[in-house]
Amino acid sequence: AHLQPQMDESSILRRADCRAKGGSPGFKVAILGAAGGIGQPLAMLMKMNPLVSVLHLYDVVNSPGVTADLSHMDTGAVVRGFLGQPQLESALTGMDLVIIPAGVPRKPGMTRDDLFNINAGIVKTLCEGVAKCCPNAIVNLISNPVNSTVPIAAEVFKKAGTYDPKRLLGVTTLDVVRANTFVAEVLGLDPREVNVPVVGGHSGVTILPLLSQVKPPSSFTPEETEYLTNRIQNGGTEVVEAKAGAGSATLSMAYAAVKFADACLRGLRGDAGVVECAFVASEVTELPFFATKVRLGRTGAEEVYQLGPLNEYERVGLEKAKEELAGSIQKGIAFIKK
Ligand code: NAD
Ligand code: LMR
Repeated sequence: AHLQPQMDESSILRRADCRAKGGSPGFKVAILGAAGGIGQPLAMLMKMNPLVSVLHLYDVVNSPGVTADLSHMDTGAVVRGFLGQPQLESALTGMDLVIIPAGVPRKPGMTRDDLFNINAGIVKTLCEGVAKCCPNAIVNLISNPVNSTVPIAAEVFKKAGTYDPKRLLGVTTLDVVRANTFVAEVLGLDPREVNVPVVGGHSGVTILPLLSQVKPPSSFTPEETEYLTNRIQNGGTEVVEAKAGAGSATLSMAYAAVKFADACLRGLRGDAGVVECAFVASEVTELPFFATKVRLGRTGAEEVYQLGPLNEYERVGLEKAKEELAGSIQKGIAFIKK
């Protein structure tokens, strides 16, 4: 069913088995939307990840070419391509982790919510496939608007009777990556030494960096706080405008997606203390979904951390974030329940 012009199924499986015997935990990962702006560099970086033994690349266009190209890389993962809806089930069967960057990106002047009408249906179809073919897989949802697509996915899984909130994660890592970079610039530090928790959601004012909790402990003037918060909240728009109609962040997003997927795989392997921010089902606020730090383990997001102490600026930001988030979450839920 899949596209692998040079090798038959049994020789591919023999290679994957050999690798598993060599001690690799050999996780199976699917990328849905793998031929896109995010999908291609994400697929390349996952092909380089030693925790991956099998990599399935699904898209409605161009996946054969991307698959053939990546299959020549002399790294461990076996790559298989899948093209179009009839091959979705083969792409998903047996997967441990499914990463979803399928859907249209923004153009200048658009909000992420303007993508809802197209992307909601795409996410619904793909998640129906996950529920049917790999209901125990961890799902990393990248397609925008994340604040609505995660509730959509949850409703699809509930309908199918497969919903486990620990396994559904909206990817907000790019907000943390940007926050680390911009804060490091202001502090004059190496960004690899900086960690900024970013909570709330993934759109405008719902992106709430907690500068009072930056590591290493740092203080900021009111002007620096205002500048950093605005820059982090508008990082996506900065890239959309610079690309001037050619799409949104793809390369930094692929980097962030791999950082997050790798953390999920380390959690699945049983590593201790794997903590990342993600948009998940949550009881931290009165909203049903919220992004905070979560601990990733063998069953997904095993622990959802509280917000910790906030300063006055962050408390005001939290109220604004919750107001916008409530509507976006409701819109996603209503899309499936209607
Ligand atoms: P893109 O248009 O370059 O690629 C999207 C890919 O999805 C295309 O290859 C397209 O063929 C594919 N696709 C469309 N419908 C599909 C379907 N039904 N099944 C499978 N694949 C399908 O867009 P991009 O720049 O890669 O962005 C993808 C999405 O990610 C957008 O919604 C964008 O807003 C979002 N995004 C999210 C974040 C985040 O932080 N969560 C960051 C950047 C972009
Ligand atoms: C981002 O933050 O870069 C993405 O959500 C894409 C966008 O539309 O800004």
